[in-house]
Formats: sequence, C-alpha cells, structure tokens
Amino acid sequence: MIPQSFIQDLLARVDIVEVVERYLPLKKGGANYFACCPFHGEKSASFSVSPTKQFYHCFGCGVHGSAISFLMEYNGLGFIDAVKELASTVGMEVPQDDFTPNHDRARDQSLTEVMAQATRFYKEQLKRSQVAIDYLKRRGLTGEIAARYGLGYAPEGWQALQAAFPDYSAAALLECGLVLENEQNRRYDRFRDRIMFPIQDQRGNVIGFGGRVLDKGEPKYLNSPETPLFEKGRELYGIVQARQAIRDQECVLVVEGYMDVVGLAQFGVGNAVATLGTAATPNHIQKLLRLTDRVVFCFDGDAAGRRAAGRAMEVSLEHLADNKALSFLFLPEEHDPDSFVRAEGPDAFRAAMTRAQPLADFLLAELKKEVDVSTAEGCAKLVHEAKPLVTRIGAPLLRLQVIKMLAESAGFTQAEVEQAFGLKQASAPPPRRFDEGNSFESGFNRGFGGTDGGDRPFRGKRRQGSDFPRMTPRQTPQTALETLLKLVVQHPVWAARLPIDLLSDHSPEGRALIAITDAMSVGDLPTQGVGALLEHYRDTPHADLLARMAGQLADSAFDDAQIEHLFNDTLNKLEADAISRQIDVLTARERESGLNPAERRQLAELLLHKQKLRVRAKVSDS
Ligand code: UTP
Ligand code: MN
Repeated sequence: MIPQSFIQDLLARVDIVEVVERYLPLKKGGANYFACCPFHGEKSASFSVSPTKQFYHCFGCGVHGSAISFLMEYNGLGFIDAVKELASTVGMEVPQDDFTPNHDRARDQSLTEVMAQATRFYKEQLKRSQVAIDYLKRRGLTGEIAARYGLGYAPEGWQALQAAFPDYSAAALLECGLVLENEQNRRYDRFRDRIMFPIQDQRGNVIGFGGRVLDKGEPKYLNSPETPLFEKGRELYGIVQARQAIRDQECVLVVEGYMDVVGLAQFGVGNAVATLGTAATPNHIQKLLRLTDRVVFCFDGDAAGRRAAGRAMEVSLEHLADNKALSFLFLPEEHDPDSFVRAEGPDAFRAAMTRAQPLADFLLAELKKEVDVSTAEGCAKLVHEAKPLVTRIGAPLLRLQVIKMLAESAGFTQAEVEQAFGLKQASAPPPRRFDEGNSFESGFNRGFGGTDGGDRPFRGKRRQGSDFPRMTPRQTPQTALETLLKLVVQHPVWAARLPIDLLSDHSPEGRALIAITDAMSVGDLPTQGVGALLEHYRDTPHADLLARMAGQLADSAFDDAQIEHLFNDTLNKLEADAISRQIDVLTARERESGLNPAERRQLAELLLHKQKLRVRAKVSDS
C-alpha cells in the first residue's frame, strides 16, 4: 500500500494543469483551463481543469478527478503505476511496500518502543557528559527543566547507539531515522555529539528528535526525518509539557524553536509550543484551536518573522471562529523568545503577550502597507487585495468587523465593500448574471483566483439545458444531508463546523459526513482541493458518492454570496428535524399514557428550542 500521506504530498507537489498540458493543449478561460475532452468525441472544448481545485471535469461526458485519475484514464494505467509516473515527474520516490507500514499498528508500536529506548539512552548519556551539561548550564537551564523536557545527549562516535541496541542492524532503527546507511550498507548513528530534544506526540510517545550542535557547526539543528511515526507538519514541540499551563492560562503561545519552548518554561512561561522548523500548517492551526480559544504566535521582529506571521495568518483564516482569538507578538529585532525572556524576565514577556497584535489588525496593517490610501487607485487596490483574504475568514462576526474597518480605511461604505466581495444578500436574491452560481470557481476555496469573467466555451451549450439546476436554498431538491455534503466537498474546512451529534449513519451521505468530520478532527483531511479530497477517499465506501458530489460542484458550485447562509440554514433544518422527531415521540406518549414531570419539562424545552430555531431562520432569511 502506498501511504495516504505520500499521495497527499505528491498531489501538493504537482500541478494538475501542467500534468494535463503534457497531453492536451489547454486554453485559459477565466480561472480555468479548457480543452476538447480526450475521453469522448467533441468539437467544442468542454473539458475543464481547475488549478485551484486541482480537479478536472468534463461538462460533456462528466468524467472528473485528480491528477492521478487523469493519468490512469488517459494512459490506461493502474493506480500504483499512475502514482509512480506522477511521482517521477517531480522527482519523488514512491515508498517501497515493505517500508510503508503507515497504518500498521503493531509496527508503529515497536517503532515507538525503539524511540523510547533511544530517549532513555540519550538521557543517560547526558548525565555522563560534563561538556553537554556545561553547555545546558551555560544556556541557563536547570536539571529540573532538562528532565521535564527529557533532554539528552547523543555521544560522539559513529555507532554509539549500539550500546542501547544490541541488534544494531534491526530494520526498526533505520525506519525510525536513528541510523543511516552508507553506500556499502554500513550503518552509523544519525545524531552524534548533539544535545537531543525528544519530540513527543500528544499522547507522550517520543516520535522524533531534534539534535543541536554544542557549539558552532552545521546544521545547527538536525531533525529526525519523516517516518511512519513522525510527520513534521502535524506536530507541536512541547505540547505534552505545556498542556496544563495552556488550560490554566486559557492561551497557547506558538514559537519557532526548541530552545524557545524550553527557555520560556525555565522562566515559568509554560504554555509555549513550537512548530518544528516549518511554517504553521492548517493542521497545526486546527490542533491549536482545539486546545484553547486564544492563540498567540510569537515571531522575531525581523522581515523573516513578519513573513512567517503572514503565512500563519493566511492558513488560519478559514479556521477562525467568533469565540477564538489569534494574535501576533513581534519581538524586538535582536531577540527571539528565549533571549527575550532571559534579558527582560517573564513579567516583561507576559506583558508583551498582552500587547500582541490581533489577527484582524495585523491583516489590515499588512494590506495597507502595500497601498497608498490617499489615492482612489490605492483605495480600490486595498479592497481588491483584501477580498481573497477577507472572504476566507471563517468567523462571520469577525469578518463583518474586518469589512467595516476596511471600508473605513478605503473610504467606502460597508455595503459597497460587501457588494464588491459578493457577500451581501438582498432580501430577495437578485436576478443573477447567468454564470454566477454555476461558476466552477465560485468556491471560497482559494480566494486568489481573482477575476473569473472570461468567456468559457462550454457556456453556450450548457445554457439551454435544464439539467444543471442552479443551487439556491429554495430551489434545491436535495436532502439537507446531501446539501451539507456538497458544501463540505466544496469547502472541506467547514467539516470542523458540523455538529457531530446531528449526523446519523443511516444514509450514505450521513456516513460520508461522519467520515469527513472524523478525519477533520484528527487533522487528517486534505483541504487543498477537491482532487486531494477524492484521493483521500479512493477505495473507501464513500468514494463514489464523493466523486458524484464533486462532479455536481463542477457544474454548479454554490456561490460565495450564498454558501455561508445555506450552510447555516441547512444545519438549522437538521436540528429542527431532530427536535421535531423528539417532540413527536413525547406528544404521542402524552396522549397515550401522560408524561412525568421530567418529560413534561423536556417537552417544554424542546418546544421553546424549536421556536427559537424558527426565529433564527426568519432572521437569516431577511
Ligand atoms: P533558530 O536558528 O532560531 O534556533 O531556529 P533557536 O531556536 O534560536 O536555537 P538556539 O537558541 O540557537 O539554540 C529555530 C528553529 O528552526 C529549526 C529548529 O526547529 C529550531 O528550533 N531549525 C533551525 C532546524 O530545524 N535546523 C536548523 O539548522 C536551524
Ligand atoms: Mn535562540
């Protein structure tokens, strides 16, 4: 089996437009590319490729899929061969079968034990190395903090680990990334003469190491490679040690380095975690927001720090909620968190944290830096540039606030900005331009698509057909679950907003939604396009249904202006249905045998709740 993580990495690396272009001449039309469909005979170009969705779809014959499925269909390849072919174009190597036990729990367990054994060995070695102890002391760490974070020392010598692992040739050592093999198949330790920082997963298992040189040397930090246990973009260093402090302070601090986490902890700032030398990923953001409602990112005050903050902000937008607050703390240029807390003390650090710049401020400040709002052009540009970012904000009230602030800065009214963003709902939906709601690109998804008005060849043909129903809340002949599923396929991050208790596994749609919500909750859901989502569910019971939904979306995606409204409405409807069913049961019982006081109270509550939902529906309709 090829691990799912590899498939997702591969799809993130390739661009479907380039892949298809190797076989078909593509023409740009609006945000998409078009060609005559290679899978059925035709003269007009109804085969479209979406760069933002990384998905192709033929409006004529209905074929669709990811870059992998394109190679399978076009070249008649099997799945594995298509993956290999695609991987070779970007220089990635498909993992060997016996080296991909991603879902092999027994194997994972033995790898975990190997890592635990290595951790004990390195810790033991630290006690014996005066040089290493002196180094940590010089950096101001006490034995207590070193123990708390399980710090260790990898001794000099090429095969020091042999002392901990009598079977130094065991496959597991290589798989864990603890040893390397040279061309003559001779093994040697990856980490030599380094301070070892064990990286733990949320359950406390050591899954990787960061090793720092004692003095000067390259690289400064050597990290474990990605292994079946360790995927960099999903882990937060220090999470286990920080958990209690995060709970107590209702806030998590995100820093860049191992030493920052440990140094802060040494000074009593215990709620810090670090991304592992990578930019914050959507998976990180989801994890952080599940931990607590307040996230403070701390970056160096230099240009690199601001760039990193910008990236963290961008990947956060979709995950924001109105009860969550993200902010950015920029340190003076000469400092990182570790040196700052040492120089200024923990109180100064905490004070700086309270002055962190809220995400909305930072967003607007970054946008304004690029334009001159004393000119009409500058004001227009500001709103234009803001659109793809602001429309992605997942918190409706915060989004509203940002729109207000933006309007003010650019000299527009709020309504004008909303209209420019395609967000404002008139009470009766205005007659739409023909191509709105049907636009392939109308997802919130990637925002940056920009203008989309180009004439697309298939339009004329499709217009006459009534078999492409426009999706509006009222016309939709779909069940609530179908609508939800389609919304989530279009906009996977919204899976995080589905209340799991309203979903039931009685229908294929319900089961697919539950599967997606589950994947989301463990941070496993690919969110960079429909193609990646489909690959994630290839060979599962949900594959066909999801492919069908994706195909429908290509025809008639929900448009930006309606999607949020529709999502909320549909959830309300599901909730109302569930309540009605409970009310029916209770009223039937009331007629037959009467209700006891508790049941009567429950019925009253349900009726009240239903009433509230009705009011909410009315408000959101107007
Ligand atoms: P820094 O270079 O800022 O190091 O890298 P630091 O955390 O301040 O460490 P000290 O204080 O010099 O000991 C920040 C993070 O980037 C990753 C590591 O995760 C590091 O903690 N990094 C850095 C690497 O992975 N490799 C490197 O060679 C350097
Ligand atoms: Mn440092």
